[in-house]
Amino acid sequence: MRATFLRFGAPQFNAKEINEVVKTLKSGWVTTGPKTHRFEEDFKKYVGAEHALAVNSGTAALHLGLLAAGVGKGDEVIVPAMTFGASANTVVHCGATPVLVDCNRATMNIEPKEIEAAITPRTKAIMPVHMAGRACDMDEIFTIARKHNLKIVQDAAHAVETEYKGKKVGAYGNFACYSFHAIKNLVTAEGGMLIGNDAEAMKRSRALSLHGMSVDAWNRYGTSGYKHYEHIEAGFKYNMMDIQASLGIHQLARIEQNWKKRKKIWHTYMKELQGLPIVLPAPIRAGDRHAYHMFTVLIDTDTTNVTRDQFLNEMAKRNIGTGVHFRALHLHPYYRKTYGYKEGDLPNAEWIGDRTASIPLSPHLTGKDVKDVVDAIRNIFK
Ligand SMILES: Cc1ncc(COP(=O)(O)O)c(C=O)c1O
Repeated sequence: MRATFLRFGAPQFNAKEINEVVKTLKSGWVTTGPKTHRFEEDFKKYVGAEHALAVNSGTAALHLGLLAAGVGKGDEVIVPAMTFGASANTVVHCGATPVLVDCNRATMNIEPKEIEAAITPRTKAIMPVHMAGRACDMDEIFTIARKHNLKIVQDAAHAVETEYKGKKVGAYGNFACYSFHAIKNLVTAEGGMLIGNDAEAMKRSRALSLHGMSVDAWNRYGTSGYKHYEHIEAGFKYNMMDIQASLGIHQLARIEQNWKKRKKIWHTYMKELQGLPIVLPAPIRAGDRHAYHMFTVLIDTDTTNVTRDQFLNEMAKRNIGTGVHFRALHLHPYYRKTYGYKEGDLPNAEWIGDRTASIPLSPHLTGKDVKDVVDAIRNIFK
């Protein structure tokens, strides 16, 4: 058994990233400014989108993305139940109702036919979530959106490198929301990015991200003299700091290198974890690119007595950290109480939620770390 605990999703920062943060701290400007602007420009180019707004979390990006899509009081937004709470919570923050729908058992992504079935005259938007970094079927989702005149706000928290039919998912519009939280593929400690192709809506989002002010701080205190600002709207405090962007710029510069490392680990797991009572990730659709954000296995409770929770505990006993992405959202107390969801409503999300476990996939895992993970899993099922 390994001697030290292998932490799930621990980020790693190199000298360039650390030095950039130090330079920023010494520069006299630590909040939103030139580095945030550069990070936005670099990210926009990477994704192939028209506009980018850096914010302080993926949740902030989702909230602003929904508002930019025009979501407000009385509206409904279709969200998969197999996701993190922030996807639906932000719909609630807009005064709207999240309508949770079921997903596909193999891809864990939202099921297009369930979207169609959930549309009502109040539906305003659809929120596809690219689970673990696997692209949703964007053609089918856009066809539904166009037919019913709905906006698409993508939750791309897991999907910086994800491509659908050869293009980054964020390039597809209307809005895409990324997370740079500590365990993500690109880490700014906390952080996020809103991508969009509607210039006016993105301009409004920028103002909303900083109290709804007409002039941001960098331009207010700039070398050309102090500028007055006005509150055009009652906005939020969602702006990214240059300290965070200092990490982001260099993390983005090596994102492909990290992706290749995770891809290699992914294929090792696919090979070494065959023949166990676990379901491995489904094949990747031809023409798509998986972000390899999370390697999730499903404990095959039909063929083993080990439950998912026992598996998590057994992994911890063997000094291996794990995660659960996710337990079905509609069964969490807030969603049960507020919208009356109950067991059996969304069977595929529940089925995954009871069986899923994520194992370490960080790019800095050594060959020995990966072998320890494989050995631990084999040992549990021996
Ligand atoms: C699917 C999904 N959406 C949204 C978020 C929220 O991102 P953040 O933590 O950056 O606010 C997360 C993760 O944290 C996530 O996994």
